[in-house]
Amino acid sequence: MSRMLVGITGASGAAYGLRLVRELLTAGHEVAVLLTDAGRKVVRLETGLELPADVGRSQERLRQYFDADTRLCQYALDDFFAPVASGTSAPQAMIVCPCSMGSLGRIAAGLADNLLERAADVVLKEGKKLILVPRETPLNAIHLENMLRLCRTGAVILPAMPGFYQQPQTVGDLIDFVVGKVLDQLGVEHRLFGRWGEKA
Ligand SMILES: Cc1cc2nc3c(=O)[nH]c(=O)nc-3n(C[C@H](O)[C@H](O)[C@H](O)COP(=O)(O)O)c2cc1C
Repeated sequence: MSRMLVGITGASGAAYGLRLVRELLTAGHEVAVLLTDAGRKVVRLETGLELPADVGRSQERLRQYFDADTRLCQYALDDFFAPVASGTSAPQAMIVCPCSMGSLGRIAAGLADNLLERAADVVLKEGKKLILVPRETPLNAIHLENMLRLCRTGAVILPAMPGFYQQPQTVGDLIDFVVGKVLDQLGVEHRLFGRWGEKA
């Protein structure tokens, strides 16, 4: 069992983040969630899941939604006393899914102005895995330069770009493709898509 940190920001694709949290819990991992204010609003708009602004109540709602126990927790974005704010207690991996261009730019700049940015900074400095799942189109030169900078620093840039060679039938299949690619990066076994060359 590992401690995974999932950041959900205000990019479109909230369902990717929620699916990822569910899969990690199902695989037996501890999951800490960080939700930006924009992320909370997009989660509500795109999935109908209402998460209170109050972190205690939001954590309660998330545990209910995922039918999870204390293996799932949520930290407040301004809680720099949370374990993930320090290199002495860095998670095994951090995934920002979906990752807005705003959060991506602030992480690339090393601002560490909220707990999500600080945790990403810590994961990078400690040489742990940071996976960013950006969603934006088209991309401007600032977005691309920020991604290159992060990639060169050791982050994995894993865009929310589902493939179609698996012949997806549902939106869920498209979500599973992206989440499965994240799980592959984490070395977490899954059956979210068939492997190329494997018989179905
Ligand atoms: C419905 C909706 C969809 C959005 N989709 C995206 C997106 O796909 N990518 C992106 O970078 N920003 C998107 N945004 C804008 C971000 O939410 C906005 O830049 C916000 O400040 C990001 O803050 P955060 O990084 O703290 O979550 C969207 C906003 C809304 C309201």
